[in-house]
Amino acid sequence: MRRTRLYAFLAIAGIAASQAVSAADAGGKIIAAQCNGCHGFEGISKGIIPGLRGKPAVYLSESMKEFKSDKRKGTIMNRIAKGYSDGELDNVAKYYSGLK
Ligand code: HEC
Repeated sequence: MRRTRLYAFLAIAGIAASQAVSAADAGGKIIAAQCNGCHGFEGISKGIIPGLRGKPAVYLSESMKEFKSDKRKGTIMNRIAKGYSDGELDNVAKYYSGLK
């Protein structure tokens, strides 16, 4: 009896854990909706604003963190980057770098 309950608990915990992973993935995609207006749908820019699609995640997240700390100067990105936690910047960087 006890063992059955334990297995039921583990099964539910397993489902919760797998949902946590997909929620983290959605984080980057949801944030990207706020970037696509300037950087193009799925990061393919058609104008002078740099595209983000397929660039290395490390490059994207470091650039954002440099904008956030004003180490790198831009026109608008310094203000935008300050609106996100470092974890969110990592998430959105992973999302764009994962698009091929
Ligand atoms: C209002 C338009 C606008 C929005 C919205 C915007 N960006 Fe930008 N982004 C720019 C511009 C313009 C630049 C060039 C640097 C500058 O002038 O600030 C840039 C540069 C960048 C760069 C550096 C690219 C490179 O190749 O060096 C990254 C990374 C970036 N943006 C990520 C993002 C992310 C992630 C978001 C969404 C959270 C976002 N941007 C939202 C306009 C925008």
